[in-house]
Amino acid sequence: MRNLVVAIDGPAGAGKSTVAQLAAEKLAYTYIDTGAMYRAVAWKVLQQSATNITEELILSVVADIEVDLQYIDRKSIIFVDGIDVSGEIRTPEVTALVSQVAKIGAVREKLVALQRKMAQRGSVLMDGRDIATNVLPNADVKIFLTASIDERAARRWRQLQLNGYSVDMSELKQEIAARDKADSEREISPLVQAADAVLIDTTRLSIDQTVEAILNLCR
Ligand code: DC
Repeated sequence: MRNLVVAIDGPAGAGKSTVAQLAAEKLAYTYIDTGAMYRAVAWKVLQQSATNITEELILSVVADIEVDLQYIDRKSIIFVDGIDVSGEIRTPEVTALVSQVAKIGAVREKLVALQRKMAQRGSVLMDGRDIATNVLPNADVKIFLTASIDERAARRWRQLQLNGYSVDMSELKQEIAARDKADSEREISPLVQAADAVLIDTTRLSIDQTVEAILNLCR
C-alpha cells in the first residue's frame, strides 16, 4: 500500500497497541507506540526517586533523556539512554505515574518533536492520545479506537495476569477511569477524538476484526 501516515488514538486499554502493531505488520509499516515514550520518561523519573517526585525532577529528567524506539524481531523495543526498558515501562508503578509526566509541556515538546521526525518518511502507523489532533494533523488515516470501560479493564487485567501481576478488577477500573480523566482533562493536547477521525468501538470486536477494520480504512 502507498506510503501512508496512519494515526490511531484512544483511551487506556482500548487495545490500541495490540491491533496497531498487527495492522502495521500487515501493511509492512513502522509501528510507533508513543505511550511507550511517555512511559520511558516516567520510568527514568522513578529511577531517580521513587517517593519524592516533583515537577523539577521530571524537568531535569526530560532535559537529558535519550529515548529511542526500534522494531526488532517483530517486537517494538524502547531504549532509555541506550538501555532496553521495554519490560520495565509496563509496571503498575510506571502506569500510576505516567499521566502526571505526560501533562508537562516540556515532556510533550521533546517527545512530539521526536515523533514527527519518526513519521517523516511515511509508511508509519503511530498510536497515542494526540496523534491525529496534534502530532500528525495531516495524517492520511485517522482512527479513534475505544471500548467500554468494563471491557478495557478486563483486557488490562488479562494482560497484567499474563505478565505475572495480580490486581483487583475494581481497583483496575478505577485506575483506568482516573487515567482517562487525567488524559482527557489536561491542558496541553488532551485526549479527544479528532473531528475527521473514524470511530471504531472494539467492545464487541475481536482483535482480528479490529485489525481488518483498520486495514479497510487504509485501503
Ligand atoms: O497508551 P499507554 O497506556 O501506554 O500510554 C501511557 C500514558 O502516556 C497515557 O496515560 C497518556 C500518555 N500519552 C500521551 O499523553 N500522549 C500520547 N500520544 C501517548 C500517551
